[in-house]
Amino acid sequence: MLNELKPKRRFLMGPGPSDVNPRVLQALSSPMIGHLDPQFIQIMDEVMDMTRQVFQTKNEFTSAISATGTAGMETCLVNLLEPGDTAVICVHGVFGGRMCEIAERCGAKVVRVDARWGDPIDPAKVREALEQCEPKLVAIVHAETSTGVLQPLGEISKIVRDAGALFLVDAVTSLGGTQLKIDEWGIDAVYSGSQKCISAPPGLSPVSFNTKALEAIDSRKSKVQSFYLDISLIRKYWTGAKRVYHHTGPISMVYAMHEALRIVLEEGLEARFERHMNNHMKLRKGLEDMGFEFVVAPEYRLPMLNAIKVPQGVDDAAVRGRLLNEYNIEIGAGLGDFAGKVWRIGLMGESCTPNHINMLLGALKNILG
Ligand SMILES: Cc1ncc(COP(=O)(O)O)c(C=O)c1O
Repeated sequence: MLNELKPKRRFLMGPGPSDVNPRVLQALSSPMIGHLDPQFIQIMDEVMDMTRQVFQTKNEFTSAISATGTAGMETCLVNLLEPGDTAVICVHGVFGGRMCEIAERCGAKVVRVDARWGDPIDPAKVREALEQCEPKLVAIVHAETSTGVLQPLGEISKIVRDAGALFLVDAVTSLGGTQLKIDEWGIDAVYSGSQKCISAPPGLSPVSFNTKALEAIDSRKSKVQSFYLDISLIRKYWTGAKRVYHHTGPISMVYAMHEALRIVLEEGLEARFERHMNNHMKLRKGLEDMGFEFVVAPEYRLPMLNAIKVPQGVDDAAVRGRLLNEYNIEIGAGLGDFAGKVWRIGLMGESCTPNHINMLLGALKNILG
């Protein structure tokens, strides 16, 4: 007989998942009910309402896909793109690249707009791309977790709107941690993740589609190739007077999301954004006093994901291993072009506290001497 599970408590300071509030863990252990039970329908409605508030949108179809952020990404792309469509995709890190891969699998023609890793996308390059093709959609990552860049969206949104294309934004890491105004910023479709600044476990992907995006879906010529991620079917489960079974809702995850969103809204969005910024500044000072260098220029740094250069001569994996094994602190390794060269320190949601910062700085001082 195997032993009962007893994972050690960690302090999650990587790119996600982040620490989860005990109230959310308690919600996970609430009694199981059916996915069409009127109680559950009400909980879904409340999750939709709170998700609207967090996304700062009035979009009626604002809910959660029953899987992680990548499924949110895939949902948006498989529903909004049909074979033969053109999509302009901005790539300034791993997740822009992943969008290209998925859009190609949808049969779309992908036009890439690239930026050097650690830089944001230049709006002039988006304008140039839009002058050369007439895309159905332009997609961009708001908070590029692989590089630590916060992408300004205002100017690009205007360029996309003027070109008449749909504007799709990846807000997996930004939602609940930094300003994100779906309606005011002219975003037509957006997806996020439960496990970053919302601080629920991984397993749900909040999404929101405005009328323009839903009309594009309703006027498709071909069926969405994914049954599980077909928004027209998912909408009938999440909205309307009579709910139609599509898949079995992940009941406990929706409970967790309900409590996590309640915590976000209790704190207040502005207060939460300010907390993320203040703690980022505290971490930044501590790291810079120790001689660390940031990858990204100050004006484009993500408060919730701090990408710093691994000092010369320091063994990346050995330090991360000691942080985990001796201090129970997880930080993230570099991805893709940054593998072995960069550490990614997350300050997301419940993991964004002065205590986390003090623990990490103390541990790094002990390890690096
Ligand atoms: C910006 C961004 N987009 C998409 C994803 C994919 O989300 P998931 O790993 O939850 O599937 C991540 C995950 O880290 C991310 O940071």
